[in-house]
Amino acid sequence: METSLVSLVMGSFTSATVGAAARLGIADALADGPATPDELAAAVDADRDALVSLMTALTALGVFAKDEDGRYTNSPQSELLRTDHPDSMRYLTALLCGLYAQAAAGGLAEAVRTGTSVMPHAFGVPLYEYLDKDPETARIFDLAMQDWARPIGAVLAEHVPFENVRTVIDVGGGNGTLLKAVLTAHPHLKGICVDRPDTCRRAEEDLRASGNEDLIARLTFQPADILREVPEGGDLYILKNVLHDWSSESGVQILGNIRRAMSATTAPDGAPTLLVIDPLAEHDSGAAFRNVIKMVVGESKARERTEADMRREAAAAGLQVLSITPCPADLSVTACTIAPDTQAA
Ligand SMILES: C[S@@+](CC[C@H](N)C(=O)[O-])C[C@H]1O[C@@H](n2cnc3c(N)ncnc32)[C@H](O)[C@@H]1O
Repeated sequence: METSLVSLVMGSFTSATVGAAARLGIADALADGPATPDELAAAVDADRDALVSLMTALTALGVFAKDEDGRYTNSPQSELLRTDHPDSMRYLTALLCGLYAQAAAGGLAEAVRTGTSVMPHAFGVPLYEYLDKDPETARIFDLAMQDWARPIGAVLAEHVPFENVRTVIDVGGGNGTLLKAVLTAHPHLKGICVDRPDTCRRAEEDLRASGNEDLIARLTFQPADILREVPEGGDLYILKNVLHDWSSESGVQILGNIRRAMSATTAPDGAPTLLVIDPLAEHDSGAAFRNVIKMVVGESKARERTEADMRREAAAAGLQVLSITPCPADLSVTACTIAPDTQAA
């Protein structure tokens, strides 16, 4: 069914409304039961009348509900905005429906006119330089990536054969959510999460604060610029939701750095393997919009790959594609090994 132009135009306010609820933590405040407007305003530290306006919109959308006494309650939709929900989307919603993502989206026309990323137009710097300068948003970004990585961590932990793997290196692994799931399910593994220095510092602090001595002993965070180098020593490398933020040229650079690290590593069961986990257009129900999102937050010329793009970039980086397997959340897993004719340079 075609959506009316008015609905599309109002859509940015709809998502901003949901984003504000996520940012304010309204679903958490209602986790223990219904609340009157006064109670809810006190719980989330908000202006009562403004909060009532927001909640009126949110209940009309079905994101929250009201009981027979006029008190606000969670609904099945808003349950997903609770921080402690196993499939929580709280921080992903706060990030994509607010903060720099919504502000930058206003520059889309300029990005289309010039063929360059919106972020430098809107904020003067690319995304990751922006995050380096705004620690509060950077922290929400890490938690949003956690929302994104959580379900795939469980899928990998269950389906990837880890018996002959000793060390898993997650390249651009954020705060280590995926590795935590994999290491928890497979106690013989060690994990190295490679990311930007700030992300590694925050993740390391959080891991130590968690008091999980088992993971503290087996999971390390290693700062690196993956456009320049990737650490060696993994017999399984993972690159999840990273490639599509970059142009084809940068993608080949990152894949080439991983291939060089793989070439320098001896795996017990033959050559190391790389799993690239990214949406590929053929298996992505959100493909129609993915490149619009990439124009806003990605590098200039960042785009979703097709299977053919993926094979071409892997080959240019000295990798051979072994298989491509669709997996949940519109992602595909491309398993690669070092191409036979590649020099170990
Ligand atoms: C879209 S997030 C994906 C995070 C994680 N793999 C996941 O799927 O949840 C991209 C990650 O790449 C990291 N990153 C971006 N540029 C980087 C660079 N030059 N060197 C190291 N990490 C980088 C970011 O900090 C971020 O954690």
